[in-house]
Amino acid sequence: MKFMKFTLIILQIVLFNALFGQGMIKKAIELPEPEIKEGALLMEALAERASMREFREEPISLQHISNMLWAANGINRPEEEKRTAPSAINAQDIDVYVFFKSAVYRYDAHKHMLSRVKTGDYREQVAARQEFVLEAPVIFLLVSDFSRFDRGDQEQKFTWANMDAGFVGQNILLYCASENFATVPRAQMNKDKLRDILDLEDSQHLMLNFPVSHKAK
Ligand SMILES: Cc1cc2nc3c(=O)[nH]c(=O)nc-3n(C[C@H](O)[C@H](O)[C@H](O)COP(=O)(O)O)c2cc1C
Repeated sequence: MKFMKFTLIILQIVLFNALFGQGMIKKAIELPEPEIKEGALLMEALAERASMREFREEPISLQHISNMLWAANGINRPEEEKRTAPSAINAQDIDVYVFFKSAVYRYDAHKHMLSRVKTGDYREQVAARQEFVLEAPVIFLLVSDFSRFDRGDQEQKFTWANMDAGFVGQNILLYCASENFATVPRAQMNKDKLRDILDLEDSQHLMLNFPVSHKAK
C-alpha cells in the first residue's frame, strides 16, 4: 500500500514537471480528488502554524495543489454548493489565482479544476520587494469580487471582503502547517501591474497572497 502511494506521488511529480517545468502549459487542469483523510490533527497544525520566509524550489505535487485549493475554498457541501470557508451573505466572493513559473491559473471550485488565465512567469509582481518569494514554486493569490455582494455600500463590502479573505487565508495556513509546507500571508504585491496581468474588472480586489513550498531543510 505504502509502495503504491509512493509510486503515485512520484508519477504526479513527473506529470507536474512535464506540465510546468518544460513549457507544456495546459489550458485547463483537472485536479485529483482532494485527500480529506490526510494531514495532521487540527490541534497539531495550530501548534505548527508560523510564518515562514525560507522556501525550496522543488515542485509541489498536483495532489497537494488539489488538497490545498480544496482546503482553501473548495466545495465541501455539493448539495448546497457551499465552501470550506464561510463568506458574508454567502457571496463566495473570493477567487484563488495560482501562480506557477510558467503560467497563472484560476481555481474553479465547482469543477475542482484550474483554468489558465495567462502564460508566463509573473511571480515577480507578486513578490514585489520581497525576493525570497521567488524561491517558492507556487503562489496563491486571493481576489475578492465585490459584484457578488448583492447588498451593502462600498465600505461594508471592503469589510466583508477582508474578513472572507481572512478565512480562506487561514485555511491555507492550517493546511500548510498540517502537511509540512512553508508559507506566509502577504499583503505586499504590485497591485496595479497584477490588475493588468490578470485583466481584472473594477469590482475585483487583490487581497492577500501566499507563497508555498516544501519546508526548507
Ligand atoms: C494581513 C497580513 C499581511 C501580511 N503581509 C506580509 C507581507 O507583505 N510580507 C511578509 O513578509 N509578511 C506579511 N505578513 C506576515 C506577518 O508579518 C506575520 O504574520 C507576523 O509577523 C506574525 O508572525 P507569525 O505569522 O509567524 O505568527 C502579513 C500578515 C497579515 C495577517
